[in-house]
Amino acid sequence: MRTISFLIHLFLSLILILGFVKPDPDPLQDYCVANTNTPQTFFYNGVPCINPSLATPSNFVTTALSIPGNTKGNPFGFNVTLANVKNLPGLNTLGLTMARVDIAGNGLVPPHSHPRASEVTILLKGSLLVGFVDTSNRLFTQQLRSGDSFVFPKGLIHFLFNLDSQNAALCVSGLSSQNPGAQIVSLATFTSKPAIPDDVLKKGFQITAQDVLKIRRNLGG
Ligand SMILES: *[C@@H]1O[C@H](CO)[C@@H](O)[C@H](O)[C@H]1NC(C)=O
Repeated sequence: MRTISFLIHLFLSLILILGFVKPDPDPLQDYCVANTNTPQTFFYNGVPCINPSLATPSNFVTTALSIPGNTKGNPFGFNVTLANVKNLPGLNTLGLTMARVDIAGNGLVPPHSHPRASEVTILLKGSLLVGFVDTSNRLFTQQLRSGDSFVFPKGLIHFLFNLDSQNAALCVSGLSSQNPGAQIVSLATFTSKPAIPDDVLKKGFQITAQDVLKIRRNLGG
């Protein structure tokens, strides 16, 4: 009886481990440079590749992250610039994305999650308060100084806040998927299209209909 129960536990643990820790699928060739020229006409788990014999070094380089993002147009004061299959087609199928994150003085990358990727970030300039909340609702937070790195586990809600009101902060993140996805908690709940019914938000956040209206308006929803 105990052996059977042990085997069942082992089996279930294996399913959990394989299901949650798995990164993007392994590539089946050295590279699979994304074909970004012709519009995609059929869809599967990834982006179609060009003929490998036509690949050139230029498919593996981008200057995208050298250009500072403009934080003025963003109400939270941040701008994320990605190196992904669109500007760096050579990373198709490799399970990677890189991001440059510019954060204005007192700017905030509000609580958000990447459903398909863990993220490791290095702060290159400025000082940041970063943190994530685990599934038992425990907050892990840390103040970073220039040169420090921090890791956000896959799928967990996290934030980056620039403590300095005068100076912009700059960090660069590596993400463990070529398509990490991002959901900003406040926007997903209050500005989705179509909207989540007011009654759900009222009860879910223990607030009034006026509060719902106000938050929606504040967030541009
Ligand atoms: C981010 O910065 C780039 C480069 O300056 C700019 O083109 C883009 O509009 C900015 N995005 C937002 C949301 O402000």
